[in-house]
Amino acid sequence: MSQLKVAVIGAGSIAVHRHLPEYAQREDVEIVAVCDILKERAEQVAEEYGAKAYTDYKEAITESGADLVSVCLPNYLHAPVSIFALEQGKHVLCEKPMATSHEEAEQMIAASKQAGKKLMIGHNQRFVASHQKAREIIANGELGRIYNFRTTFGHGGPEGWSVDGADSWFFRKKEAFIGALGDLGVHKADLIRYILGEEFTEVAAMVESSAKKNSDVDDQAVSVLRSESGVIGTLTASWAYKGGEDNSTIIYGEKGNLRLEDDPAYSLIASFTDGTRVNYELGQIQTNDSGGQTSSGVVDHFVESVLNDTEPLINGEEGHKSLSIILAALESNETKKNVTIS
Ligand SMILES: NC(=O)c1ccc[n+]([C@@H]2O[C@H](COP(=O)([O-])OP(=O)(O)OC[C@H]3O[C@@H](n4cnc5c(N)ncnc54)[C@H](O)[C@@H]3O)[C@@H](O)[C@H]2O)c1
Repeated sequence: MSQLKVAVIGAGSIAVHRHLPEYAQREDVEIVAVCDILKERAEQVAEEYGAKAYTDYKEAITESGADLVSVCLPNYLHAPVSIFALEQGKHVLCEKPMATSHEEAEQMIAASKQAGKKLMIGHNQRFVASHQKAREIIANGELGRIYNFRTTFGHGGPEGWSVDGADSWFFRKKEAFIGALGDLGVHKADLIRYILGEEFTEVAAMVESSAKKNSDVDDQAVSVLRSESGVIGTLTASWAYKGGEDNSTIIYGEKGNLRLEDDPAYSLIASFTDGTRVNYELGQIQTNDSGGQTSSGVVDHFVESVLNDTEPLINGEEGHKSLSIILAALESNETKKNVTIS
């Protein structure tokens, strides 16, 4: 079987826990390059996968013969590295948040179009079984008109996740650009757009940097969103949820409500106004402790979109729309005004 060759750029936690093992599981993909700015880290991870180690992303992309590139880098590098790879004729899977500005996101989309190569953003929440089922229930009209939601993603912070712990780039504005909102909030922005099948038009937010020392980014944010059809709800992101992660979403509609990833036993509970309650035992969501599903679904979807020449579910435009909600929340916090998303 002819194999697609992949270069993984950045050998930190997301590369090691998700991208690399998920590529390695596939017989139709060969990992040819692992790149990290830290030589020892690149070499150690590359050796594990029988790949060549690089410290320069440009060399890894141009010299390895890769067809695919996974961008697993600090946020400020997403756009430049993705654009470089696309210009070199590679298909790109870029981690979230897609970029640090509208301009960067637009440039990434343009580079993908110009090259005729796929660009996918790693919004794995769309591949979680409970989230997919909720989208189906709502699209079928089983919940009637949707009025309200609350979606939240919080944990103790990236020091428990990043390969560099408390010294991580996640806490430095120059590299991260945005904290919990970009790390966790953007996942929920993408998720709520996906579940409701609607775009959001208005955002108001309060953002704080109160929980972390040695950090110059936000570590918690609460935002209120309004959709094009008038659904309103809250989106919360936090690195200050001590003692356990909260990755839950509740949707309130005319005929009942859906509780997603809110109950330890049932990843989706549907309660209807006629008294019916349905407990769904679906695959659990992946957490930072690597619990839940063994595969995020992201890498498989990306590879299949390349093999079948189909548009990835979360292409550049989708990544940009989700990022726009977060950029609007930041603007709202700064201006102390509601921000309209055009
Ligand atoms: N989809 C998800 O659920 C999810 C979860 C966690 C992180 N992420 C995203 O993945 C990306 C990476 O995060 P992480 O958790 O792996 O971070 P991490 O801190 O664990 O690793 C980042 C790695 O990038 C390397 N690096 C930095 N600059 C580099 C450069 N110029 N060239 C090559 N390597 C360089 C670092 O040395 C480090 O090994 C971030 O954008 C983050 O938001 C996504």
